[in-house]
Amino acid sequence: MVKLTKLLLTTCPGLEDVAIIEVSKLLSIRNYTLRPLGVQGRIILECNEKQNYAVQILNSKSHLLHRVSILLASTKISRKMIALDQIYNFLFKCNIENYIQPENTFAVRVNRLGLHEYTSIDIAHVAGDAIRELIFKCYGKYPKVNLDSPEVIVRINIVGESCLISICTTGDDSLHKRGYRVYNHPAALKPTIAFAMCMLSEISNHMTVIDPMCGGGTIPIECCFLNVNCEIYGMDISPKHVKGAKLNALAAGFSHKIKFKIGDAMHLDKLNFNVDRIISNLPYGMRIGRKAFIKTLYQKFLKSSKNILSKDNLLTLLTAESCLLKNIAEKLGYILKKEKIIWHGKLKTSMIFLELP
Ligand SMILES: C[S@@+](CC[C@H](N)C(=O)[O-])C[C@H]1O[C@@H](n2cnc3c(N)ncnc32)[C@H](O)[C@@H]1O
Repeated sequence: MVKLTKLLLTTCPGLEDVAIIEVSKLLSIRNYTLRPLGVQGRIILECNEKQNYAVQILNSKSHLLHRVSILLASTKISRKMIALDQIYNFLFKCNIENYIQPENTFAVRVNRLGLHEYTSIDIAHVAGDAIRELIFKCYGKYPKVNLDSPEVIVRINIVGESCLISICTTGDDSLHKRGYRVYNHPAALKPTIAFAMCMLSEISNHMTVIDPMCGGGTIPIECCFLNVNCEIYGMDISPKHVKGAKLNALAAGFSHKIKFKIGDAMHLDKLNFNVDRIISNLPYGMRIGRKAFIKTLYQKFLKSSKNILSKDNLLTLLTAESCLLKNIAEKLGYILKKEKIIWHGKLKTSMIFLELP
């Protein structure tokens, strides 16, 4: 029987269903569970490909995943202190010796949800001791712990009484940290969310796409990764952000693909071209701008959009002010096609898909 590769993947909470679509194009999936143990942002999957190939493909090709880990084992543990002994003993049965040699440095990272008598640090300590003893038993030499830049990361996820043991292949830096961010916009969007917005916008060849409030250019840049032959524009009212967006696009290798301009999204009718897709991470009135002004901005933006939208149009907008946006959109004659809740860090946001009939 062919041995399946079992992986634990993480993404932005709310994007699990989009991530699995992307992963299914990269690997032949046999089974998967979205949000295992009820935890958002996680996926467990089994695929046909060999472990090394599967992790290499996902780490290098995915635009939606944050981390890729090899799932070694799962078990039940107590919420009481006895769990420390249970974890210690269990780690000897997880084949960790296949991933850590005595010359490797390693660290244990613990993620714990629920009420327990012990802390995550208690678990990390006892797990670190167990792994050192296990490697000594197998190879006659102890490996070193390095908490700052370990060569191997063992992840322990505890949710209530369930415990997952995995080897993280991504490292401590999540895949959403793209190398092209040379200009840091103060309210930058996670690139994984930006990519999901573009992916869900059903962009096809020869369409014109614009982010009229593009900040540091995350959405136009991530749109280029779709590899669709479309016209991409990025616009912002701030010359400083437009300059920064151009630098980011250059670092991403897409400066030739995106046309950036300084402009006001409240006067999109001034653009001398039509657009098929508007994809934008709107100001929420929290970090940037004031709440009262947001209403006027949303109204004028959606009103002026009507003058430039083509027949086959779609607006994909991210906001923390979803009720306000939906009310304004409805009054202006837009149709709400879909709404998706996405957590941007601790902030609950809505990805809102609008269409002008
Ligand atoms: C939430 S930020 C976008 C961040 C961007 N997605 C990124 O990842 O860097 C919103 C942007 O809207 C811009 N903005 C605000 N009012 C605008 C207007 N009337 N016209 C164009 N841009 C505007 C701000 O300058 C800001 O850069």
